Amino acid sequence: MSQNLPMDQPLGLFAISGSLRSESSNTTVLHALQATAPAGVIVSLYDGLGDLPYFNPDLDGETDTPPPSVGQLRTQIGQADGLLISSPEYAHGVPGVLKNALDWLVSSLEFPGKPVALINISPRSTFVHASLSETLTTMSASLIADPAFTISLPRKGLDVAGMLADPQITQCLHAALDAFVRAIRMHHTNHIGR
Ligand code: FNR
Repeated sequence: MSQNLPMDQPLGLFAISGSLRSESSNTTVLHALQATAPAGVIVSLYDGLGDLPYFNPDLDGETDTPPPSVGQLRTQIGQADGLLISSPEYAHGVPGVLKNALDWLVSSLEFPGKPVALINISPRSTFVHASLSETLTTMSASLIADPAFTISLPRKGLDVAGMLADPQITQCLHAALDAFVRAIRMHHTNHIGR
């Protein structure tokens, strides 16, 4: 089946924040990306990260039906044209809840080849990005690298309205989505018939 994506076909992006914190900057920036998405680009935020069971390979055999929340996550990933991830760094590593979700996706058929953008709002948090890049590459994601994915925030604690009121931030948000959408369309063009 052709995976070519005509320019006029809507694009669905699935966004995962690695933070469960209610005032999370990473979640807020994903909401801001959702709010600024251009026509024809739909960003859906994942809200089930904290409800996933702990990964257990015993529940993930070839003949097993995965837990419902895991099946739902895999379906959402499968339906998405691209995955946006924005995550804090904890103790120089990936938050356990996010790694747990990725572990459930390791053997899923929906994940390999999926275009992924790592949004970076904390340029000093180098360990989490290196670690996520390594994990996602190992999982055969199509990891897209672009300087536009680094979105610098002038201060902490901004809500979505605060981000959207700042022209520099909105410019960054548009640039990040533009770069990702372009990369996804290119990815599909390069994989026609795969
Ligand atoms: C952190 N933070 C942090 N930051 C960093 O750059 N390197 C680190 O190793 C850590 N470690 C760490 C451990 C713990 C337990 C906490 C609570 C925090 C800071 C953290 O990444 C930062 O505040 C993020 O902006 C939080 O993201 P959210 O929740 O606002 O999305």
